Amino acid sequence: MPTAILFSSKANEKNNLVLILDKKSSIPATIKLSKENSNFIAAQIKQENHSFLLHENGKMVFVLVADEKKQLHLTHEALRKAANGATASLNKYKTKTVDVVNASHIANAQLYVAEGMALSNYQFIKYFKDASKKKNSLETINVVGDAKLKNEVETLNTICEVMYQVRDLVNEPVISLSSVDLGKEVLKASKKYGFKAEVWDKKKIKQNNFGGLLAVNMGSPIEPTFSILEHKPAKPLNKKPIVLVGKGVVYDTGGLSIKPTPDSMDHMKSDMGGAAVVLGTFMAIAKLKLNLHVIGLIPSTDNRINGSEYTPGDIIKMHNGLFVEVLNTDAEGRMILADALSYAQQYNPELVIDFATLTGAAARLIGPWGHAIMGNADEKVMSEFKKAGDEVYERGAEMPFWEEYGDRMKSSIADLKNVGGADGGAMTAGKFLENFTNYPYVHNDIAGPSFAFAEASYWGKGGTGYGMRLLFQFLRNRTK
Ligand code: BES
Ligand code: ZN
Ligand code: ZN
Repeated sequence: MPTAILFSSKANEKNNLVLILDKKSSIPATIKLSKENSNFIAAQIKQENHSFLLHENGKMVFVLVADEKKQLHLTHEALRKAANGATASLNKYKTKTVDVVNASHIANAQLYVAEGMALSNYQFIKYFKDASKKKNSLETINVVGDAKLKNEVETLNTICEVMYQVRDLVNEPVISLSSVDLGKEVLKASKKYGFKAEVWDKKKIKQNNFGGLLAVNMGSPIEPTFSILEHKPAKPLNKKPIVLVGKGVVYDTGGLSIKPTPDSMDHMKSDMGGAAVVLGTFMAIAKLKLNLHVIGLIPSTDNRINGSEYTPGDIIKMHNGLFVEVLNTDAEGRMILADALSYAQQYNPELVIDFATLTGAAARLIGPWGHAIMGNADEKVMSEFKKAGDEVYERGAEMPFWEEYGDRMKSSIADLKNVGGADGGAMTAGKFLENFTNYPYVHNDIAGPSFAFAEASYWGKGGTGYGMRLLFQFLRNRTK
């Protein structure tokens, strides 16, 4: 169960408390503290202690002193990060419910703290026999504020609920999340959240000439799937749809160009992080009834070897008729995305956005702190991504999208080859994909941040769900 984030017009004296202060704030009259505790707080603030715990009348009071930064979005992120410590403390003391009260001068600070707490309270423990013993105690976060905040709290609650599911999907191993299972998850979510969905099987994929997806799937005992999602309100703000595409490689061994194990193959169950982002975004926009017409496309397969796998040197006819010479079977993401991008053309879209754990090169460029974003959409769209990225702190660093990168993808015996050499690997991959588009296009390579190898603040360890909050925020901003 995801941690519930609820709105509350006032703090409940019986509840434990997270109290947000800043260097100048005074404790609100509604919060009753003993003289000793008030003095203790003043002394801690003076000593520049940013978080500490005290007890008042048998309740815990976790004090967070907001760390004001030069830019507001950095202050917000500091609040999310600080909340991580509060969650750990509250769970240590087996707390179930907590009120978050903002007595700082930062508007809506309680929202960011609640977000950081809920996200850091996520656990993936279903594969422990004694999971119930490991389960965090914290279940409910009450965000205390005036009525204006109610809507924001509800949105935040949905985002966190969805983030838990996105992370679950990324963490689920391929033995229990195959391409077919992913299709089932799409259908399940469509019923639960109320969007349209259709999942193609291999026969339908063949009829539609998805050469790239079929080629990658040749080495698999399990059929590929292609999921089509649609959220269409009665009177959407956009005339032409926005199309979201997610890489759904449920496991990437590299195929014949096999990845070295253990280092690079161990976490390749997470190679469907882009698909999880797209599916999660649909859950959120459907539940929150965003007034935009949005279509989602998720090509899915694993990339394995079984004796009939696709092979370096093979030439594959893609959905748009272009031929691709396969020189590395580990560059499979672009093969399956290319078909989906080509299929997207029929919608005459306003914009197509993909999310994909596409290249190790992007991961090395940016690390886990953000991702590589690039494309040919106009500057306005790119600046919308920048704004949304700052707001949710999932930041795309814009890469060049120069023609020369595309030149590296030309083959001497076919239209394209699927690898472009060591230089600029994130961008050559992006330019490869552009060959399958005829609309404004934004490509997000989330190979770096999609899976955390070490505990990283409220992101935790393992599947992070990175990208969903960004994509949702980008879309939501378009409705404001
Ligand atoms: N799924 C990988 C990319 C990846 C690497 C994701 C590390 C997450 C972490 C992708 O399919 C891949 O193998 N890309 C190759 C492309 C190369 C062969 C051109 C890569 O990046 O090495
Ligand atoms: Zn690969
Ligand atoms: Zn891959």
